[in-house]
Amino acid sequence: MFILRTEHAGLLQLHDIALFQFKNYPNTRFRFHSRIIGICGNNGMGKTNLLDAIYYLCCTKSYFGSTDALNTLHGAAGFRIAGQFSGAEWMSPDEPLEVVCVLRENGKKELHANARVLERVADHVGKIPCVVIAPDDAEIITGGSTDRRRFIDGLLCQLDAAYLAELMCYNRVLQQRNSYLKSCAPGRTDESLLAVYDSQLVQHGEILFRQRSQTMEALAPLIHQRYTQIAGREENISIRYESPLQQGRFGDLLHLSRQKDLALQRTTTGIHRDDLVLELDDQPFKQLASQGQRKSLLFALKLAELKLLQQSKQVSPLLLLDDVFEKLDETRMHNLLHYVCTENNGQVFITDTQATRLEKAFSDCGTPIQIVEIK
Ligand SMILES: Nc1ncnc2c1ncn2[C@@H]1O[C@H](COP(=O)(O)OP(=O)(O)OP(=O)(O)O)[C@@H](O)[C@H]1O
Ligand SMILES: [Mg+2]
Repeated sequence: MFILRTEHAGLLQLHDIALFQFKNYPNTRFRFHSRIIGICGNNGMGKTNLLDAIYYLCCTKSYFGSTDALNTLHGAAGFRIAGQFSGAEWMSPDEPLEVVCVLRENGKKELHANARVLERVADHVGKIPCVVIAPDDAEIITGGSTDRRRFIDGLLCQLDAAYLAELMCYNRVLQQRNSYLKSCAPGRTDESLLAVYDSQLVQHGEILFRQRSQTMEALAPLIHQRYTQIAGREENISIRYESPLQQGRFGDLLHLSRQKDLALQRTTTGIHRDDLVLELDDQPFKQLASQGQRKSLLFALKLAELKLLQQSKQVSPLLLLDDVFEKLDETRMHNLLHYVCTENNGQVFITDTQATRLEKAFSDCGTPIQIVEIK
């Protein structure tokens, strides 16, 4: 009989996870009984893989963009990840919800909630909100606009189940329009076909633009607050959502850029060109900021995402922190952990190679931690 711990009532919590043929885990089970869980072990032992398995149960795919097949234990066919959750509003208060993600041998992925197969895997996204901070996320700050759009889309997909469907429609039409632009001979343009593509792009693009605008408007001040909190002082940073659609109606923009699109053989305007502009002292953030400042801004973005999801879902998302100790000075590290321990009240999974470092950091914050050793 499963007993929900009353001191954690209202806390979205993963109690138990069983991994079968997932990455380097042939058949392993972990039990979690704390709000803060330290996952410790040497390099290559499977700490990040365990976080990725948790992410699978929340978002039905790998956080690191690898295909389902690559996440199957080498030499095996298919995997199974099963987790016992409690605490979200839609879950029963009396018994945990079992979420199972199965990759069948034929490559088909299924998601089960309490043994009921979900009709569409994507419907599950956002039901168990989750935020990950991993080393490669630095690309959100230092990489190109694609990385920042992926961040925005990841957040919006969890906030609103309909967003992903819109985005997929937009991308499909965009691809069709671009293929047509590539294939069409000079002077022999089928204007009516382009008009059909344009109207479909406008239909989906304007919905996505509105959602991105609203979400970024809410997110920007939260990012600013979190950054100041982590830095421990006010720094002159600015965060701004930028989209070609701010320049006019999407239909007009497409019309105006048609000749250019035909010449360049691709669609040069639209929400696929959006960006999140990050600045420090009015200069591009990535050019001016130190490594620690970049990392602080990354945390600020992610913790703002956490806050927005929390407000929307009425529950604190799971926070998965992978190797966060590098490159932050003592003050910034302290401020970050202080936030994670006190202001954030959700469950946290944090990896480190040294259990003692984690134990010390959290005992300094006065927060109990369960250490899970991976050998
Ligand atoms: N599909 C797979 N099948 C078997 N093993 C895999 C698979 N995918 C990854 N691995 C193994 O998992 C290990 C990496 O695990 P992971 O990245 O979780 O380590 P880690 O504990 O986070 O290490 P670090 O401290 O270096 O970050 C590697 O040894 C890799 O070979
Ligand atoms: Mg790792």
